[in-house]
Amino acid sequence: MSTGEGTRAVRAGLPKARKHEPALPGPAFAAHYHLPGEPTGPYTYGRDSNPTWTLLEQAVGELEAPGETGVETVVLASGMAAVSAVLLSQVGAGDAVVLPDDGYQALPLVRERLEDYGVEVRTAPTGGDAQLSVLDGAKLLWIETPSNPGLDVCDVRRLADAAHARGALVAVDNTLATPLGQRPLALGADFAVASATKGLTGHGDLLLGYVVCRDAELAARVRQWRKVVGAIPGPMEAWLAHRSLATLQLRSDRQCANALALARTLAGRAEVTGLRYPGLPEDPAHAVASQQMRRFGSVVSFELPGRDHAERFLAQARLVDDATSFGGVRSSAERRGRWGGDAVAEGFIRFSAGVEDTDDLVADMLRALDAAAGRDA
Ligand SMILES: Cc1ncc(COP(=O)(O)O)c(C=O)c1O
Repeated sequence: MSTGEGTRAVRAGLPKARKHEPALPGPAFAAHYHLPGEPTGPYTYGRDSNPTWTLLEQAVGELEAPGETGVETVVLASGMAAVSAVLLSQVGAGDAVVLPDDGYQALPLVRERLEDYGVEVRTAPTGGDAQLSVLDGAKLLWIETPSNPGLDVCDVRRLADAAHARGALVAVDNTLATPLGQRPLALGADFAVASATKGLTGHGDLLLGYVVCRDAELAARVRQWRKVVGAIPGPMEAWLAHRSLATLQLRSDRQCANALALARTLAGRAEVTGLRYPGLPEDPAHAVASQQMRRFGSVVSFELPGRDHAERFLAQARLVDDATSFGGVRSSAERRGRWGGDAVAEGFIRFSAGVEDTDDLVADMLRALDAAAGRDA
């Protein structure tokens, strides 16, 4: 039966209804399983497999590639476990990899590992599909769109076609968009990879990552990597994540509406520069984002006139937690430059819209902006 995405999110990965069983079985806490005789699967040892992962993997696969059979999903301990699993399991010494130069700030750490292992790493910006210019001879293209924290967007289909024509694999970090915003496999990617710590699970109470792909051999390499490094999710995290999926569409819809309302509000403020939100019609990435995204995400980026101004704004906002991470039900924001590592101005704010009432959030932001600018509300 073909269903809408809200219905799909509510039922994703649920086992067949059985009398006296819960809809979503509780977490299976097991380091090992009863295993007399030949040691055959599905469940042998807890680092290889777990029934709670199996249900979550089924659910994530249904969201990333609805209606497709043969899709394989691997859940891992965190988003970085998923990112590293793809990059480090698919390439080796002598291969070349293309990364974005404006991606998540831990990517350069993976780059160091790759280079230590004899992999050539090339980088180019996300915007303008600039990675096209360094693709020749690459084994794998890594795309992050929208990029974190700059919110640039590239044309996944165009890059994937160009990479495949050169024999390269394509992985897309889908963290910011979530599968309800964008489906990388349908746009031609070989891997959809994400931190499920963010919008997918949305409560800021767990870390988790996943890799989805269509090719069984590619998936087997990722699964083997998970086993070798032991980057496995806990059963409790996997279960909480699965439970959270039921509200994914509700959360996403409110978050995206709030992010757009905030972006529109910020666009009218004289002290705000560098505003980015792919859902804003005047955003430079809006045209390409509209081709490939169905929702534009919860994150809005902008600059205030310097560090002190940005800190005053964050201190004044009452409905917005000053915290890193994004995609949660409670709005949060941070001065991104406090970490170092991102090429951003001192007054750069990454704002993650939660599910609060839109009017409350906009009013709180306006009040905090006024107070930060030295104006009484
Ligand atoms: C785009 C992107 N990819 C990957 C990660 C890593 O995820 P995790 O923190 O779950 O390891 C993050 C974290 O912020 C991210 O923003």
